[in-house]
Amino acid sequence: MTGGNHDGVPTTHREKLQHQAEEMDARVVQPLPPYLIVIFGATGDLAKRKLLPGMLRLFQSELMPEFRVLGTSIEEIGNEEFREIVHEACGEFGRHEFSEEDWAEFSRRMVYIPVSAGPEALKAAVDHEVDLLGSEAHLLHYLSVPPSAAADVVHMLADAHLTENARVIMEKPFGTDLKSAQKLNDTLHAVLSEEQIFRIDHFLGKEAAQNILALRFANGLFEPIWNRDHIDHIQIDVPETLGVGSRAAFYEKTGAFRDMVITHLMQILAFVAMEPPTALASLPITEEKNKVFRSLLPLKPEEVVRGQYEGYTDEPGVAPSSSTETFVALKCELDNWRWSGVPFYLRTGKRMGEGARIISIAFREPPQAMFPAHSRIGRYGPDHLTFDLDESSRVSLSFYGKRPGMGMVLEKASMQFSLEETDYRDDTLEAYERLIRDAMAGDHTLFTSARDMERLWEVAAPLLEDPPAVKPYPPGSWGPTKIGGLIAPDSWRLPFARRWREHPKVPVAAPADSV
Ligand code: BG6
Repeated sequence: MTGGNHDGVPTTHREKLQHQAEEMDARVVQPLPPYLIVIFGATGDLAKRKLLPGMLRLFQSELMPEFRVLGTSIEEIGNEEFREIVHEACGEFGRHEFSEEDWAEFSRRMVYIPVSAGPEALKAAVDHEVDLLGSEAHLLHYLSVPPSAAADVVHMLADAHLTENARVIMEKPFGTDLKSAQKLNDTLHAVLSEEQIFRIDHFLGKEAAQNILALRFANGLFEPIWNRDHIDHIQIDVPETLGVGSRAAFYEKTGAFRDMVITHLMQILAFVAMEPPTALASLPITEEKNKVFRSLLPLKPEEVVRGQYEGYTDEPGVAPSSSTETFVALKCELDNWRWSGVPFYLRTGKRMGEGARIISIAFREPPQAMFPAHSRIGRYGPDHLTFDLDESSRVSLSFYGKRPGMGMVLEKASMQFSLEETDYRDDTLEAYERLIRDAMAGDHTLFTSARDMERLWEVAAPLLEDPPAVKPYPPGSWGPTKIGGLIAPDSWRLPFARRWREHPKVPVAAPADSV
């Protein structure tokens, strides 16, 4: 944005017109060719909760190109029953209302074929749908299937000649250790190029995750202090209140480390830690993320706490002697010029005290000698910059200020931002919505590469080979008692000593002369 006063607020008529044109440019999205989306596992949990409501939302927001959806799964159902399932899912899990007209337009593009029909019938159904879309049509295969089935689906796609002009979205886990990840990547690369593969990590699709990049690189304020000279330690903390629910079959083989840490938490760590990319584009960002993973030191089992919530082994589908961890906290370090000596503490678990997804940057404390002992300097811990990865994309900067009145008594205060208080709050795309569109556009920026995954498994090897015993923790707590020792003399930010400010859900227009 050019012109305007120092806050970029256009002042003259010409500047206002230019501002409007720039606003339009910023929102223009790349046009896409027609797409046939083939969903494998189309009646499964993820499809119902996220993929199908997400596609409806993209369609309503006019972000879908011309498209059709071919669902496939083991259910022996026809088109009409499939549409009913989709309708119910969009009603139950969709975040937005939809009209009869929207539904009619959306659902007429949905068809279904059971897996039992076989590869030839699938190929014929795909060809038929592609004919309806025209010769420009591309294919997007969404593999919403258990990891054990992914390789079979990929082989089947190759046998049925369905890999040409196609992109494939894969769900985690991308292997269970280095060897299995390499094997999976070899299988994929035998029939698909890396360019065609989109390994989804929905945490990177969260608006707030991308805001980390904006905040770090679009401001002169933060980047100069974003290093070991000014930052003491960093926490990435994702406690969940949910238990394992009906997912025991998946979770028993996965556990918290593979389900959350090697995937979501590490991807977020890369955004927090990476060097400025040469451009805000897929290749430069992917390169910088990979450098972060290459600097990551191998995990030390003695710096990892594994926990299991009491009652986990009574959950349906869980082995009575299960040692699967439902909680993990660990310390990791990056051996590079920016971060050497700065610990990164990662924690996540099921059935914990609160659900949250925060990144907390603790700044080094200044010398405190000049303040009198009663001033409370340092009493409430260091200054923090805190990101909340929730939809409201909150950011808070906390600092010491003087309590009004006589003497010098300090208190912690904070400056907070929330998307909820802007006019954009209804514009946010849910992570899957954003990522499905990015995959159609061929944009790998927010996806994980084969190289990244293999490096992460390499770093994890010492822990996987020699995991510490799981310690029990009561549901509703913050994990096993040992977690305090892991981070001492610092402490976990959660539960917060001070609450986030609640924001009114009314539009707040910035006055033209705001500071
Ligand atoms: C999934 C994990 O990838 O992420 C789940 O498999 C976890 O176990 C979920 O609950 C958390 O995602 P979100 O977006 O709800 O924080």
